[in-house]
Amino acid sequence: MADGEADFNLPVITAFSFKGGAGKTTLLALLGSAALASGYRVIFIDTDSTNNLSSWQGAAVQNGYWPDTAQLHHTLDADRVTQIIDDAYDTRSADLVLLDTPGFATKALDQLLAVSDFVMSPIQLSQPDAVSAVATRDWMQAFYLRLGAGSPRPAHCFVANNVKNLSRLSVTEQKYLERARKDFALVKTMVPHRATLAMMTDKGPLGEIIKHQISEGYEGARISAGHSTELLELAMQVMNDVLSHNVWEAEDA
Ligand SMILES: Nc1ncnc2c1ncn2[C@@H]1O[C@H](COP(=O)(O)OP(=O)(O)OP(=O)(O)O)[C@@H](O)[C@H]1O
Ligand SMILES: [Mg+2]
Repeated sequence: MADGEADFNLPVITAFSFKGGAGKTTLLALLGSAALASGYRVIFIDTDSTNNLSSWQGAAVQNGYWPDTAQLHHTLDADRVTQIIDDAYDTRSADLVLLDTPGFATKALDQLLAVSDFVMSPIQLSQPDAVSAVATRDWMQAFYLRLGAGSPRPAHCFVANNVKNLSRLSVTEQKYLERARKDFALVKTMVPHRATLAMMTDKGPLGEIIKHQISEGYEGARISAGHSTELLELAMQVMNDVLSHNVWEAEDA
């Protein structure tokens, strides 16, 4: 996608949070789906021993939904992660790296965060997530101190995920949204709860599923094309928010 040498940029977006099941893998698959649908070449790196992202790729390959513009690497070795990113940079073979982490403190975690340009933490608008998000935020702060003043630091933000109804938040969601805006760098776009996302997790990149379902001769069940297109657009908006650190400021909250 980049033409000249000087323009080449390979952003590394990492999903990280101490709360299991908040949506790290889902958000990465969604952002990756949107980037692939927009013609970007994407490298997914799965550093989680539960292999969720790798299983997603496995299913996608089986279904014929894995485009050749996507690569997936699974490794628990942080040095290998650095090497994959360096190689992609040197060969200009990708436009975006999406890195999934297991979400618990390991020695490798610091190294994974250090090779990231952007770190994104999903948060659900509920009490348990509000508590664990504090631990995630504080871990990032401590990580910045460990990095030292001279080193480049990844920008960190939270993304509200699994929101029941974006246009009409429940009283509880509203309460935790207000808190999250004040306490965390929360990006402005929120991701709704959608069955389509669970289906994406089972089958492969969302854009590829849509392409297949609108192709001639397809007779299986269809997902709502409107919903899926809207989700891909929303995912691009989330990605832009993450890349530009478009978060709620105190005066907006
Ligand atoms: N916005 C959403 N809409 C519907 N389902 C969602 C959404 N976000 C997450 N889920 C579902 O919640 C479950 C947990 O999500 P996911 O696996 O992405 O979390 P995680 O943070 O990666 O978990 P882990 O810490 O175990 O790696 C999955 O079944 C996923 O399909
Ligand atoms: Mg996961």
